[in-house]
Amino acid sequence: MNQFQRYTIEEPLRGIEMAYTDVGSGRVVLLLHGFPFDKSMWKEQIDFLQDTGFRAIAPDLPGLGETVAQTLVCGSPDERHRLKSVPPTTMDEMARCAAALLDELNVEAAAVCGLSMGGYVAFEFAHLFPLRVRALILAGTRAPADNNKEKEVREQQAQRMLAEGMSFVTEATLPKLLAPRTLSEKPDVIARVREMILKADPRGAAAAQRGMALRRDYSADLDKICMPTLIIVGREDPIRPVADAELMHRGIRNSQLAILEDAAHMTNLEQPETFNHALLKFLELIH
Ligand code: MLT
Repeated sequence: MNQFQRYTIEEPLRGIEMAYTDVGSGRVVLLLHGFPFDKSMWKEQIDFLQDTGFRAIAPDLPGLGETVAQTLVCGSPDERHRLKSVPPTTMDEMARCAAALLDELNVEAAAVCGLSMGGYVAFEFAHLFPLRVRALILAGTRAPADNNKEKEVREQQAQRMLAEGMSFVTEATLPKLLAPRTLSEKPDVIARVREMILKADPRGAAAAQRGMALRRDYSADLDKICMPTLIIVGREDPIRPVADAELMHRGIRNSQLAILEDAAHMTNLEQPETFNHALLKFLELIH
């Protein structure tokens, strides 16, 4: 799982060199990570899918992990320029990059699984390329767009990341990303989450924050989603709580809801066995 490959996307998304993992054979599951994480957050799912007869493809989305978006390269020493010069990476761009990667790998359609920001990208992917989505898995995410206050907070955070780096993000978000039980019993999970955040390029993270602030309201998409959908949420997720998942479940007619106990936002890392079990049960039904 540690070895990964690269693919440089040409027109119209020129300059993005995507890093990705592609393992296993069989039906494809595309795994879209959350913010400000990378494909390594899916390690347990990648190994599990490979062992159970699936092919798992997990990209680092633009600006995060090992995928550097060329638009983010800025040499200016002027701080004002630096703060403003990081353009948003939109959810639409991320979805188009994921589709270009599937093209490169000759994959026509996949089960698309996104966690949190990856869920927004999955919504865009399903909107842009409905025929390429065999099934959707939406974990720790939500349909509505940000309100003005939430957009403002994202911009403040983007500026702070660019000015100070990522360490404030770790301290501010760990208690929300992980359930109390994970925090007290799973130091390895805490270490992994912390490491991913600290490794993130502040420019890529700021660009993704700005992109999330611009995302569409996906509520109107819900009743148009026809593919089988599994919605996963951590019982103790304060970021995207159970009510968000229930709203998606009510709106997507062909959907199932799995609520994971002793998990907050990072369900796949906090409760990998339960997450994988729910994923497999669902994939077996639809493939
Ligand atoms: C994530 O985990 O991807 C983020 O919490 C998404 C968001 O900030 O909306």
